[in-house]
Amino acid sequence: MAIKITGTGSALPEKIVTNFDMAELVETSDEWIRERTGIAERRISTGDTVSSLAAKACMEALAMAKRDAADVDLILVATCSPELLLPCCACQVQSAIGAHQAVAFDLNAACSGFLFALNTAYAYLQTGLYKNALIVGSEVLSKLIDWTDRSTCVLFGDGAGAAFIELSKTDEICENGRAAGLEEMVMGSDGAKGMVLACAERSVSNPYYKETEQIKPYVCMDGQEVYKFATRQVPACIKEALEKANLTVDDVDLFVLHQANVRIIESVAKRLKADLSKFPMNLDHIGNMSSATIPVLLDELNRNGKIKKGDRLVLSGFGAGLTYGASILVWGA
Ligand code: UT7
Repeated sequence: MAIKITGTGSALPEKIVTNFDMAELVETSDEWIRERTGIAERRISTGDTVSSLAAKACMEALAMAKRDAADVDLILVATCSPELLLPCCACQVQSAIGAHQAVAFDLNAACSGFLFALNTAYAYLQTGLYKNALIVGSEVLSKLIDWTDRSTCVLFGDGAGAAFIELSKTDEICENGRAAGLEEMVMGSDGAKGMVLACAERSVSNPYYKETEQIKPYVCMDGQEVYKFATRQVPACIKEALEKANLTVDDVDLFVLHQANVRIIESVAKRLKADLSKFPMNLDHIGNMSSATIPVLLDELNRNGKIKKGDRLVLSGFGAGLTYGASILVWGA
C-alpha cells in the first residue's frame, strides 16, 4: 500500500518585515543577517493566528487534491505556538474547514513537527486505521520572540503549510520505474540537550504554591550549539534513512530541508557530498517558520512545477527538543 501526498497548500501573513525594518528595532544590519543566516525578510502576523493560517493552508491542499473537507479522516497539526492551549489547534482547524468526520489532534516537535506529523500519519494509514490525513505545520513565532533580543528576533517568521496524504491500494509505478509513495523514515530525539533551544510556559501558581523565580516566556537559544547539532545530526539521519532504503545520495532528486539557515543547508550538502542545486531554499523571503518551513517549501516547489512525478525527495528537519528526522518519498501526485 502506497502513501502519497496528493495536495499541498500554504498561508503566509501579508506583512513583510525586511532586515532594514529589523535594524530599526535592534542593533543589527541587513549585511549581518544575510551573511549569517541567508534571510532578507520574513512575514509577521498582524492578527493571523496559528489556526487561521493552518485552516487556509488546509483548504488549499484539499482543493489541489480535489477532496472535500468532509472526506478527511485525520487532522494532525504540528505547532509550538498555538493561540489556545485548549482546544487544540487541530480541532479549531476541523471546525473552521468543516471536516466533521475527522479525528484531530496536535503534535509538538518544534521545527521537526511537520516531519513527525507526516510520519505519524503514515503509521496510522499503514495500519489501515485511516485512509487519509491532513498534516499541517503552523506557527506564529512572532509572539514567542523577545523583540529586543537581536540574536533570536531576526531569525523567525510566521506562516503555515499543509499536505493531504492518501492511501492508495494499488502501487503507482512512475515512468522512471520508481514506485510512488513514502519509502523510509528516521526520527530521533535528544531531550538531554533540550535547554539549548527553549521557551517557557506559565509557571506553577495556585493557592498552595507559587513559583518565585520569574520566567521569561520567550525563545532562548544557544545558537552555536543548535548549529553544531544541526550540521552533525541532519546529514547523519539522512544517511541512515538512505541506508535503510538501500539508496545513495545520488538516488535523490531534491533535499527539502528545514529552512533555518543557509549556512546549515550548505554544510549538510557538503557533508553528504551532494550538489547544492538539489537543495531548494526559500528562507531568504520568509525566514525560519519552525514546523511550517518544510510544508511551505514543498508547496512552493509543487506549485511552481519544480517537483516531477517520480522524483525522489528527502524531507529533513531538526529543532527544539532536540528533535530531528528524515523521510524519503517518491512523488506520485
Ligand atoms: O530551527 C532551529 C532554529 N535555530 C537555529 O537555526 C540556530 C542555528 N544557529 C545559527 O544559525 C547561528 O548560530 C546564528 C545565526 C543564530 C548566529 O550566528 P553565529 O555566527 O553563531 O553568531 P554568534 O552567536 O557567534 O555571534 C557573533 C556576534 C556576537 O557578537 P560578539 O560577541 O562577537 O561581539 C553577537 O552578539 O554577532 C552578534 N550578533 C549580532 N550582530 C548583529 C548576534 N546577533 C546579531 C544580530 N545582528 N542580529
